[in-house]
Amino acid sequence: MSHAEGKQPGRFVTFEGIDGAGKSSHIATAAAFVRRHGKTVVCTREPGGTRLGEKLRELLLHEAMHLETEALLMFAARREHLEQVIEPALARGEWVICDRFSDATYAYQSGGRGLDQSKFLQLEQWVHGHLQPHLTLLFDLPSAVARRRIAAQERSLDRFEREQADFHERVRKAYLERAAAAAQRIRVIDADQAPDIIENLIKKAVVDYCL
Ligand code: TYD
Repeated sequence: MSHAEGKQPGRFVTFEGIDGAGKSSHIATAAAFVRRHGKTVVCTREPGGTRLGEKLRELLLHEAMHLETEALLMFAARREHLEQVIEPALARGEWVICDRFSDATYAYQSGGRGLDQSKFLQLEQWVHGHLQPHLTLLFDLPSAVARRRIAAQERSLDRFEREQADFHERVRKAYLERAAAAAQRIRVIDADQAPDIIENLIKKAVVDYCL
């Protein structure tokens, strides 16, 4: 990653967790906290974050497709996202807070769908071998609790949210395995706690890892 001489390097922070873990509201909290420290923050999401990426998101969330097509489209959207949004912001010395990144592909397409992880290692190397998040916050909670939260929202569900409980439990397990293997980058936050406790844990992680 290149950045102008003397400029603070940007920070790349990703938020992960099974559907219903409550990432969205925590992202807003984290962004406001970092902005109060005088940083410029770009909030973005995957799949999506670019014009093309948002079109791919629409297909990924609502159109039936082969499992491998799904995985490849996740990485295709990511390639565009890195080129157009993530890398330019980091090069400007800004913070990028991203709702999901490659850990989600490992958790959902490998843990959930059962595809072989080694394929993703190659794709990851190809698409962003030079760049990993500085910090990943993994919001963890039992899938039964997450499903109750989703059900309470009374909205139409996407292809992933409609999956059975065992799918979400496999996704959760895959996330936790990744966190154990990359403890220096991924901090696990118990998402089944009061919002103010979670908020303090997020702030502490951001300070410890990035500020
Ligand atoms: P999500 O962050 O849950 O969107 P929202 O908060 O608006 O519901 O992301 C959409 C879905 O995409 C989510 O169910 C997980 C899935 N996903 C993958 O399966 N693989 C990936 O690589 C990514 C980035 C997302």
